[in-house]
Amino acid sequence: MATKLMDAAKRNKADEFYTQLHDIELELKHYKEIFKDKVVFCNCDDPYESNFFKYFAINFNYLGLKKLIATCYDNSPIAYTQLSLLGEDKIISNKNRHPYKIEITEVKDYNNDGATDLADVKFLLQNKKNTLTLLKGNGDFRSEECVKLLKQSDIVVTNPPFSLFREYVNQLVEYNKKFIIIGNVNAITYKETFKLIIENKIWLGHSIHSGDREFRVPDSYPLQSAGFRVDENGTKYIRVKGVRWFTNVDYKERHEDLILYKTYSPNEYPKYENFDAINVNKTTDIPCDYYGYIGVPITFIDKYNPDQFDIIALGIVGSIDFTSERKMEILDKTGQPTGKYTINAKGTLYRKFNPNIDKVPSFKDCKDGQLYSSIYARVIIKRRIKNEN
Ligand SMILES: C[S@@+](CC[C@H](N)C(=O)[O-])C[C@H]1O[C@@H](n2cnc3c(N)ncnc32)[C@H](O)[C@@H]1O
Repeated sequence: MATKLMDAAKRNKADEFYTQLHDIELELKHYKEIFKDKVVFCNCDDPYESNFFKYFAINFNYLGLKKLIATCYDNSPIAYTQLSLLGEDKIISNKNRHPYKIEITEVKDYNNDGATDLADVKFLLQNKKNTLTLLKGNGDFRSEECVKLLKQSDIVVTNPPFSLFREYVNQLVEYNKKFIIIGNVNAITYKETFKLIIENKIWLGHSIHSGDREFRVPDSYPLQSAGFRVDENGTKYIRVKGVRWFTNVDYKERHEDLILYKTYSPNEYPKYENFDAINVNKTTDIPCDYYGYIGVPITFIDKYNPDQFDIIALGIVGSIDFTSERKMEILDKTGQPTGKYTINAKGTLYRKFNPNIDKVPSFKDCKDGQLYSSIYARVIIKRRIKNEN
């Protein structure tokens, strides 16, 4: 029980990252046209703390939104202090808080300055067309009342809890919704997500393909050294690595060809021992004249153009059928025997050890002593043959 509670606490902590407005703007500027006359739903977003709500409220008329809905979740520990955009009188004290939804259908330029800026948004709830209503349940995106709101919506945009990413995406796909959401790059390798990537039903967004991003964290977040910042108001931020936008809304840059300049040679591109594909260590090194299966690093997905390549599978057991099964001894970091054994290099792709390019071997065949190099996670891809006519 204690472990379960600890796990839940850890999970909650990992879920409480609040996206900065700048990062939201950088991504959403690539999809401006799709919001016209649409209902946008931010279903993991307390309007008082969420910059997603803030972004859509400020840009309500500019984007031509029909409606903006946000629901908040009652376990969110952050206080209602970050964004006073709805006016102090509407702030609910943390103690008495209850999950609620906000529905915005009209944003007027109340101060007549010709712009719909933040100063106007604070009057949002004084407009009878905009409502704040308590939810019956806890605001879980899977709850009946939140699913009902989802059904009424066209596009979901948010940063959902990373720990529930699979379920979150499954639900969006089940209800056939457009979405632009933040997740961890590791989610690419989830069985469910990868299947959607293969089927071209989800892909990475436009603006984040490397590095880290800064997120606000609750005041209760423990102090850390690396990448941790406290601003002049005492608000805490951390830098999170491996963040990506995931979407099913198309944008033109994802159809730009990756420029390939290398040509295939068997020496430079050895095949795996257990699958008929060549190994490529860097996406930019994909040979331009090879039309068989190619194993590329997962980061290929950041540059993936569905008109240029097909994604076939993940290079792991369960996703592809290995063509051989070898019992091997696992070698340590210095290439010494460990006395531990594995079948098929722990269920991944492997190729013969090559002392010219590999530092140390990772496995040794129990039968014939052949040394093998382990290959980090790979995606199997294949060039599409374009119709030149
Ligand atoms: C990564 S944070 C992002 C918050 C906000 N969307 C943003 O980007 O600033 C995820 C949010 O989802 C909320 N959450 C966690 N579990 C949830 C659930 N089952 N249903 C709805 N929201 C949930 C958390 O409380 C947290 O506020």
